[in-house]
Amino acid sequence: MVEQAHLREVGPRDGLQMVGTILPAERKIDWCRRTVAAGLHRVEVTSFVAPSVVPQFADAAEVARVAAAVLGIEASALAPNLKGAERAIASGVAAVNFVMSASEAHNLANVRRSRTQSLEEFARIVVHRDAVASGRVLLSGCIATSFGCTIAGAVPEADVLEIAERYLAIGADELIIADTVGYANPAQVRGLMSRILSIAGDRPVTCHFHDTRGLGLANVVSALEAGVRCFDTSLAGLGGCPFAPGASGNIDTEDTAYLLESLGFDTGVDIAALLELRRDVESWLPGEQFGGNIASAGLPKTYRPAALAAR
Ligand code: COA
Ligand code: ZN
Repeated sequence: MVEQAHLREVGPRDGLQMVGTILPAERKIDWCRRTVAAGLHRVEVTSFVAPSVVPQFADAAEVARVAAAVLGIEASALAPNLKGAERAIASGVAAVNFVMSASEAHNLANVRRSRTQSLEEFARIVVHRDAVASGRVLLSGCIATSFGCTIAGAVPEADVLEIAERYLAIGADELIIADTVGYANPAQVRGLMSRILSIAGDRPVTCHFHDTRGLGLANVVSALEAGVRCFDTSLAGLGGCPFAPGASGNIDTEDTAYLLESLGFDTGVDIAALLELRRDVESWLPGEQFGGNIASAGLPKTYRPAALAAR
């Protein structure tokens, strides 16, 4: 048996929240559809934030509705508050990713709340979910700036662990540990992720890395060693938080799939199909910077997906 690792494509959310072009809903839906066709069934399809703050996601309800109903994917959507979670659940997504930061300063800049207020908001979201969509919609608790913050600097590990424990006690079905600004290093990842996995028990944990300082894939290897098997990635390495100074792209989906497959983890991802999709996404977003190496260098002649290599 080949061990599996899972990628969740966050390009249609994280990837789009800083780009200059407002992408039409049909293209976002096409992006989601072709991501699923390339073997990635988990997609963060949009963000239920205030359209006055992030106009890119004014079409969130439409994108999420089509993605969830028509595409049959494990669609998730980001929400920073109760209003966003209500809208997300009404759209039919399978999971809502609530976000708050371990850094008080970034939380205030990003979602205009103290960390205590954000946790109170999450508790209201759990009550709402239980009332209208119990057993149907999962709630993920995302902790942004878990490895450091471009506003506050160092973020104590104890703060991240305390928020994780509070999330789990309130009712989070999953944790997402995010390096929003690319401060994490492999040693830090190994330490924090081992402790997070031990408090999460059987609830899934996903790592969300940005490659701002070139350590994104090294951090993936470290997280794998700690026991993490789920990663957020973005096609063409797009991404970044508009409310975190100096933020840049997520780890690249194609490169991460290549890494995981090379290490013997079956991801189910068709890298060639992703590269084709990437060419279109690049043409839709003129003037943006794209990351990743496989797209320019190509897969090596020696490459074999883990499932084939194991035969
Ligand atoms: N979806 C749609 N509209 C929303 C909303 C949501 N999730 N949250 C707030 N709004 C609207 C309100 O209805 C209000 O509109 P109005 O002025 O027409 O009445 C306006 O936004 C301000 O509402 P307010 O209650 O002051 O906002 P808030 O303090 O509850 O929340 C945030 C503000 C955090 C939701 C907002 O700043 C935001 O969406 N930020 C985006 C953060 C982001 O995308 N970060 C990157 C990803 S982590
Ligand atoms: Zn991110």
